[in-house]
Amino acid sequence: MDQNELKKAVARAAAQYVKERLDDRMIIGVGTGSTANLFIEYLGEFRDDIYATVASSEETARRLKALGIEVMDLNAAPEVSIYVDGADEANKYLQLIKGGGGALTREKIIAAVAREFVCIADGSKMVDVLGTFPLPVEVIPMARSYVGREIVKLGGDPVYRDGCITDNGNIIIDIHNMNIVDPRTLEQQLNQITGVVTNGLFALRPADKLILGTKDGLRTLT
Ligand code: 5RP
Repeated sequence: MDQNELKKAVARAAAQYVKERLDDRMIIGVGTGSTANLFIEYLGEFRDDIYATVASSEETARRLKALGIEVMDLNAAPEVSIYVDGADEANKYLQLIKGGGGALTREKIIAAVAREFVCIADGSKMVDVLGTFPLPVEVIPMARSYVGREIVKLGGDPVYRDGCITDNGNIIIDIHNMNIVDPRTLEQQLNQITGVVTNGLFALRPADKLILGTKDGLRTLT
């Protein structure tokens, strides 16, 4: 199976997992990216049974609405039962790097609210140590240079993501060359920098379940 087929397999498995747990008031959190897009397509197969969703990006909201699936404002959602999203990297503790698609802040908010966070990824995303994938940080535009200097002090190489404006009107700095041996501490340190909105480490709130697509089949880690 190629990478896209692995993504389809995990997306299908996650949709099945959600379908088996549906009730008539269940609100589903939906992530962003190519794997999440495949998940959305599978949700479309039982759209009439879905009460509502919350979306982690404008693009995801657009895709859900195009299928006729209700998208709620998170503030109107009393709870989010299951949040399904992809990742750029994952370790065996289900800590993640996310935000390759720039949607990290809304993703992190939905992950915080969700009772269960199911991450779906092809096997290439599994790593021993996070940080080969550049770590995205969403930053208020006027703080760009200051945040960059603070990131250097933490040992990373900040690179401005050219031409990327997030759904929240902010910029992204990607941190290169960080060997992230203590993801929880780094997540907190980055959050402490004034001007940082969020960073793409999901370590303080990791996934609850990781469905991984490998050439030997699906593996579920909890
Ligand atoms: C978007 C994300 C995505 O989940 C992450 O980039 C993985 O994307 P893909 O499924 O396309 O590999 O965090 O902000």
